[in-house]
Amino acid sequence: MGDKRVLLIVGGGVAAYKALLLTRLLRKAGIGVRPILTKAGAEFVTPLSLAALAEDKVYQDLFSLTDEHEMGHIELSRSADLVVVAPATADLIAKAANGLAGDLASTTLLATDKPVLMAPAMNVRMWLHPATQRNIATLKADGVSFVGPDEGVMACGEFGPGRLAEPEEIFAAIIARLEDRPARPQDRPLVGKRALVTAGPTFEPIDPVRGITNRSSGKQGFAIAEALAKLGAEVTLVAGPVALPTPVGVERVDVETARQMLAASQAALPADVGVFVAAVADWRVDETFGTKLKKEKGGPPALTFVENPDILATVSATGPRRPKLVIGFAAETDHVEDHARAKLARKGCDWIIANDVTEPGVMGGGENAVLLITKDGTERWDRAAKDEVAAQIAHRIAQALA
Ligand code: C5P
Repeated sequence: MGDKRVLLIVGGGVAAYKALLLTRLLRKAGIGVRPILTKAGAEFVTPLSLAALAEDKVYQDLFSLTDEHEMGHIELSRSADLVVVAPATADLIAKAANGLAGDLASTTLLATDKPVLMAPAMNVRMWLHPATQRNIATLKADGVSFVGPDEGVMACGEFGPGRLAEPEEIFAAIIARLEDRPARPQDRPLVGKRALVTAGPTFEPIDPVRGITNRSSGKQGFAIAEALAKLGAEVTLVAGPVALPTPVGVERVDVETARQMLAASQAALPADVGVFVAAVADWRVDETFGTKLKKEKGGPPALTFVENPDILATVSATGPRRPKLVIGFAAETDHVEDHARAKLARKGCDWIIANDVTEPGVMGGGENAVLLITKDGTERWDRAAKDEVAAQIAHRIAQALA
């Protein structure tokens, strides 16, 4: 990494101090950092601290770059292997999505021919606003990649997605982008193949404000969608309500209920492989209430439940439109292999990937320990990070579809 250089655009926001920590991590790894500080960014961190940590000059003003000893803005925008925007404010994101170029940061983003990685940070309402989401979608379509935002309590006191990813997380995303080499055909065995992945929980409403859901984080399913896309597959990711960024190159369809998830999954067919990772609610209430249930109204309500459609079993039985390879997941707490093998038969799928959810950190955590169960036998995989498990699953899928 010693010969790599990052152009780091630091936007305004309370989280801008994390850009200093990020700069230190990058320098420690021997990566060059050339900082651009926006006017708003300079309200939160000083050019002096940024310059000291980056061990480079800090660029701030578009119109001071005219001196012949200075680097012109076009040259500046191309002087790095990767352009990183951290924090990427709603304003910077909107400018970049629309090709505006009124200051040094936005001009650089418009003029660059290098890959761009953005780490957004803003108030949760600004992040969830359709305008921001539209801009993010535009930038993704333009090939910009994203890390975060994370969910949590924000400086403004609100809770939700919008927090700048931690410096370590941004650092890891930068390393991954810097290591991205042009893929060789043998590295993309799934080119021309279509994949459907379901992920996350479902949300089954009871009344306008309440519902039934579960603790699925969506991480494993999102990681599988990403791993399949990396191998070249055209991936549709049908996601329940989770606050995870859409993996690069993946088409995402957001749904809430099991019935919506089934409809979106069926609409994504035909596919060569279907991977059903979502934790679908088994039941929904028979009739949802149009107005909020009041506790004053004579004790707890009597809810009646009906069974939700089984998406995995339904798609497994779709006749000619059935994906060649159908993979289900099984979260078990005991007799993992026996229960999972029974599930394989009951659901009519080809593989079951089973995990023991009593293991610490599996449900909602970053790691997974799985059994791969096929008609031919059972394999026990070592405990590993969810994205490593995902990469392994994607490779096995590629072998099976070859
Ligand atoms: O029956 P169980 O919920 O344990 O089965 C888990 C597997 O079935 C997972 O792959 C899950 O995504 C899928 N499933 C589904 N639709 C349901 C219930 C489970 O696709 N309604």
